[in-house]
Amino acid sequence: MIKQKLVVLTGAGISAESGLKTFRDSDGLWEGYNIEDVATPRAWRKDPKLVLDFYNYRRKNVLEAEPNAAHHGLAELEKIFDVTIITQNIDDLHERAGSTNVLHLHGEIFKMRSERDEELIYEIKDDIKIGDKAEDGEQLRPYIVWFEEPVPKIEEAIPVVRSADIFVVVGTSLVVYPAAGLVDFAARHIPKYIIDKRIPYTSEITNLTAIEKPATEGMSELRRLLLER
Ligand SMILES: NC(=O)c1ccc[n+]([C@@H]2O[C@H](COP(=O)([O-])OP(=O)(O)OC[C@H]3O[C@@H](n4cnc5c(N)ncnc54)[C@H](O)[C@@H]3O)[C@@H](O)[C@H]2O)c1
Repeated sequence: MIKQKLVVLTGAGISAESGLKTFRDSDGLWEGYNIEDVATPRAWRKDPKLVLDFYNYRRKNVLEAEPNAAHHGLAELEKIFDVTIITQNIDDLHERAGSTNVLHLHGEIFKMRSERDEELIYEIKDDIKIGDKAEDGEQLRPYIVWFEEPVPKIEEAIPVVRSADIFVVVGTSLVVYPAAGLVDFAARHIPKYIIDKRIPYTSEITNLTAIEKPATEGMSELRRLLLER
């Protein structure tokens, strides 16, 4: 039997119950930092050490975190659906939960790249330091799409969303573009679900069921709704 195509857009909220902080739902800071000071090209030019320290610390946080029931729930759905996850998260909790088809729009914390050549990408588990060079002789930086940088993977994500039979959004404030704009590419007639502990503005999304709950609880409700269909 051909499986239906379930496409899921996830954001920081799905990893919150694993102990990884989101930034917009509390104080507008990310782990106490202004985004402009640590996650923009300008920040990198101004104080690369601060930026490296910030991401080195984020990497340790992710290493200590475990996938939660929401990540596991999505991985389980692969038994019934052809699932593609498009995530804004830089953590690897979807993969560690067992999801096999994950597209990271904003980069990955366990990878690094040449400052000049975005195609020179390397796996990493340790810290990146000033003076660590890629094979082109350029400083290594986190493989992260910073605010104000282009999001090349969006081109891959758009046709995936267009081809969805069911579209699900979990734990994103839908304010970071172009990621947030992906919801507009889901066909009008298909069923859509959003799980968030505080549902963001979604009044233009057609055929939408809102599940206003933490991701772990919301995921079991979603599973029930999908199986009842
Ligand atoms: N884990 C990570 O990789 C991580 C963490 C923080 C920020 N970021 C980066 O920051 C950007 C933030 O955009 P965003 O929309 O993903 O995050 P965001 O911080 O803007 O929004 C988080 C959303 O999650 C919801 N939320 C918080 N706790 C929740 C829970 N327990 N269950 C369900 N929903 C919950 C909030 O209500 C909010 O709508 C992304 O680009 C991402 O790369 C990543």
